[in-house]
Amino acid sequence: SDPFPFYGEHQAGIVTPAQDRLHFVSFDVTTDKRADLVELLQEWTAAAARLTQGKEAGAFGAVGVPPEAPPDDTGEALGLPASGLTLTIGFGASLFDKRFGLEGKRPAALADLPKFPGEQLIPEISGGDICVQACAHDPQVAVHAIRNLARIGFGKVSVRWSQLGFGRTSSTSRAQATPRNLMGFKDGTNNLKLEDADLLQQQLWAAAQDGSAWMAGGSYVVTRKIRMTVETWDRTSLAEQEQIFGRNKGEGAPLGKKAEFDPLDFAAKGPDGQPYIKVDAHVRLAHPSANGNAHLLRRGYNFVDGSDGLGRLDAGLFFIAYQRDPRKQFVPVQLSLAKNDQLNEYIKHVSSGLFACPPGVRDAGDYWGRTLF
Ligand code: HEM
Repeated sequence: SDPFPFYGEHQAGIVTPAQDRLHFVSFDVTTDKRADLVELLQEWTAAAARLTQGKEAGAFGAVGVPPEAPPDDTGEALGLPASGLTLTIGFGASLFDKRFGLEGKRPAALADLPKFPGEQLIPEISGGDICVQACAHDPQVAVHAIRNLARIGFGKVSVRWSQLGFGRTSSTSRAQATPRNLMGFKDGTNNLKLEDADLLQQQLWAAAQDGSAWMAGGSYVVTRKIRMTVETWDRTSLAEQEQIFGRNKGEGAPLGKKAEFDPLDFAAKGPDGQPYIKVDAHVRLAHPSANGNAHLLRRGYNFVDGSDGLGRLDAGLFFIAYQRDPRKQFVPVQLSLAKNDQLNEYIKHVSSGLFACPPGVRDAGDYWGRTLF
């Protein structure tokens, strides 16, 4: 398939039909010079424009340099196609400080997330100054891209944490079939999608009138590494599993309905006089109607980071969601889930990230974050 275009009004990797593989990285900036940071963003942009088109990271490539110099590409993607690679950058709140003279540019929507009930965040795998989301159909291509950005950033940034993901847990286009998460349920049925043009304008893309003109055409991403206690889940009855989500496992249909895309009817009652979709079911609590019409564009991935030494898989969902303003979207939804969701018995949030993803790069003369500097 053709590579996704790198240049455009919005960054690729947001409404782009979700690819199957993820390598997400968060960097800390180690230089305190603004000029170094800008230069790095320019170098990264040039490399990203090449990598996403299936080319090597640098103009010489993995084997085109004089033998005494280190190559400007690491080589493990030689011979592989672009594989649908997208690279999406975001800036964390910690970047907006006096090191770079950016104190006044921090968007109001990039407000620190509140502490949510039940979360057990590990600081070493949370936050960071700059994130890059690499998505591709081939994990080798996604990892190659992140590795080369880290290589280019040597001396200016260091990797704070990174996460691999497989098996997208969302559809972001109606042309895609809904995939399944590691609990075995279809995930992404009621997601914001590429085709929802009006909702994307209202709920996904930041606008100049939101207060930070430099973010116009950008979006805010929240990441949450959510560990699943799959061993406990696997001993839960099918009926219980379906009640927790409010959808059936086979089709993904709302309980009481037949087909996946049948509309949710929260008033409909079953033979026992109780609503088919229980008051504490995940889809009821997360639905826009329960959260001031807040929508999210979810773009998460499954992860299995081996096992935990205690005989359990270190598995779960690396949740990624894009939106126009997390204060009005992710925060209220997650507050309601953290308080009431029956799913909480089987999950634990262990990392968190929040980043402002700037608008797209217009052309070869433009660079990631130019409107901020
Ligand atoms: C819907 C799974 C965490 C927000 C769903 C659905 C499933 C699911 C199976 C139904 C299908 C669909 O419409 O996509 C999970 C799992 C989670 C998780 C396994 C954790 C491991 C979260 C979190 C949020 C969230 C942290 C946001 C704070 C939503 C939303 C919907 C949804 C907005 C759509 C509700 C609707 O409009 O019908 N989730 N989810 N989920 N989830 Fe989650």
